[in-house]
Amino acid sequence: MLEKLNTDKIKSSLKTKFIGREIILLANIDSTQDYAQTNLATLANGVLILAESQNRGRGRFGRVWHSPYGKAIYMSIILKDNFRAELLPQVTLLTSFSLAKYLHSEYGLDIKVRWPNDVILGKDKIAGILAETKSEAIIIGIGLNVNQNLQELPESATSLFLHLAREQDRNYLIAQFLNHFEKDYCCWLKKGYKFLRELWLAYASLKGKKVVAKTNFKVIRGVVEDLASDCGLILREDFGYQLKINFNEVIKIR
Ligand code: BTN
Repeated sequence: MLEKLNTDKIKSSLKTKFIGREIILLANIDSTQDYAQTNLATLANGVLILAESQNRGRGRFGRVWHSPYGKAIYMSIILKDNFRAELLPQVTLLTSFSLAKYLHSEYGLDIKVRWPNDVILGKDKIAGILAETKSEAIIIGIGLNVNQNLQELPESATSLFLHLAREQDRNYLIAQFLNHFEKDYCCWLKKGYKFLRELWLAYASLKGKKVVAKTNFKVIRGVVEDLASDCGLILREDFGYQLKINFNEVIKIR
């Protein structure tokens, strides 16, 4: 049976200090990111915006994020911490790694992050992260495929349901992830890139792999060596040269 999102149920498992202490739950919205952008001035640090469905869910480079009613998690977290826009790549990676780590610990699944923002299971995408900035705030958008069956998913996507063969309680999942994420966020505030690098070593899907990266200007082939301190991807080209793909440059990486 389809269980609806319920703020009381989420709060009953929530142990955070500020993330998700206030929840705005919407039955339907164009995009939780757009809602957050429009209402940012009135939204406090840590507010969570949740929707049962989105009409115009969006991902990186304006790609469509399929958002059927009641099946998945579509949420945006507001962080107001005098951010500089340069930190967006770090926050994107932090959130991707934190979600991968949480899903691994909760369900024992081999979840990884395909740089920079795809959370994957096998070759398929199970979640996507979109961090955006406005007025020194960061809005982290998270789309997680939970209870969709194969017909309800776009190509190259998967869901928890497909791997666990039973429906998952989204209210519990949201609360547990936020408990986990707040700890990781606070750790990152203290340790910065060093913390991200630790997560990279454990959860990066591309480390040591030969990849083809398509950017606006070129196609690059090489072996992935490391995560740069600005969150670019360091590759060793076939000719032996090292080069970096910038976070905002990559369109597709395989
Ligand atoms: C990506 O994979 O490119 C990122 C996808 C992010 C989707 C989420 S769903 C909740 C939030 N609202 C949106 O419109 N997008 C993000």
